Amino acid sequence: MSLNPNISSQLKDKYDRIDQDLDAHLEGLLHSKPINYWDYINTDALLNLQTQRTVFPDEMVFIMYHQVNELLFKMVLTEIDQIGHSSTISIPVFTDKIMRISRYFDVLTSSFSIMKDGMDVNQYNQFRTTLTPASGFQSAQYRKIEFASTELINLIDKRFRDNVDKNICCEEAFEQLYWQAAGKDYKTGKKTYTLSDFESRYKDEFLRFSKFYQTNNLWSKFKTLPKAAQKDKKLIKAMRHYDYTVNVKWVMAHYNTANHYLNINGKTAEATGGSEWVKYMHPKYQKRIFFPELWTSKEIENWGRNI
Ligand code: HEM
Repeated sequence: MSLNPNISSQLKDKYDRIDQDLDAHLEGLLHSKPINYWDYINTDALLNLQTQRTVFPDEMVFIMYHQVNELLFKMVLTEIDQIGHSSTISIPVFTDKIMRISRYFDVLTSSFSIMKDGMDVNQYNQFRTTLTPASGFQSAQYRKIEFASTELINLIDKRFRDNVDKNICCEEAFEQLYWQAAGKDYKTGKKTYTLSDFESRYKDEFLRFSKFYQTNNLWSKFKTLPKAAQKDKKLIKAMRHYDYTVNVKWVMAHYNTANHYLNINGKTAEATGGSEWVKYMHPKYQKRIFFPELWTSKEIENWGRNI
């Protein structure tokens, strides 16, 4: 079989452009191994990333499910990144991307029962003691999804939101983000180790990331669409679906799971991250909403109450 002349001329152009000798690269093909599934997907590395701290079998489920979540978070961020970095975006592409992101969160929501049903409550309450002071609260990708979805004002603690500048940004916003509440000792206001550790690892990265997304988040991009496009029913439906799935359905699946393990016989146990979790986690208190302008005041008032 001879090499297609069109391909060989494109190859020559490609390597000429980077001052490389095409023949040397072609010779390399003689010695390279054909690709296979396990090398391409990196299954060996992937399946060796689970390190238990105890001997309880359900701890393995707990670790792996968190890893599955982190992979899906990465898929969500990959989609948002494409919207954030696009200079123009059409309504069908925007709608398509939002629906795709929503589907990832639908998977996260419907699968959360893996954490609740079938996992042994006793095993959980024993292995979780070895995880203190770590908490899912320290998931950097989850925080990035929030920064990339909406303006910072919508992530400010509900108690201060009405009294801060709508365009608040970066360092100033950081200390008032809703999740600071979970990372402070609710009796003394002092930052917990869980929060300080998280900040020393990620704060600089979060500030860089949120600065870019302050004007390139999903809501800002939506607002750059022509006025008529902003009324597109399919797009609005997709945006509302995403908002509700992340901020009510996922949050409630999570909250119900925490309740299942940490609220035993009406007695509330302390979470590994040390938050006042019953109040902190429920959507009706925080009223975290990515796209408040797409909801009526009645819907906002009842946020998280009808589920
Ligand atoms: C048995 C399963 C789980 C329980 C009992 C649980 C419990 C909790 C609790 C009580 C908090 C509040 C912070 C604290 O004091 O630690 C929290 C926060 C958090 N957890 Fe989980 N969690 C579970 C599974 C997961 C999974 C699978 C994920 C996915 C990555 C996750 C992600 C998060 C996130 C992102 C936060 C912060 C939420 C926010 O700031 O609103 N959790 N979790």
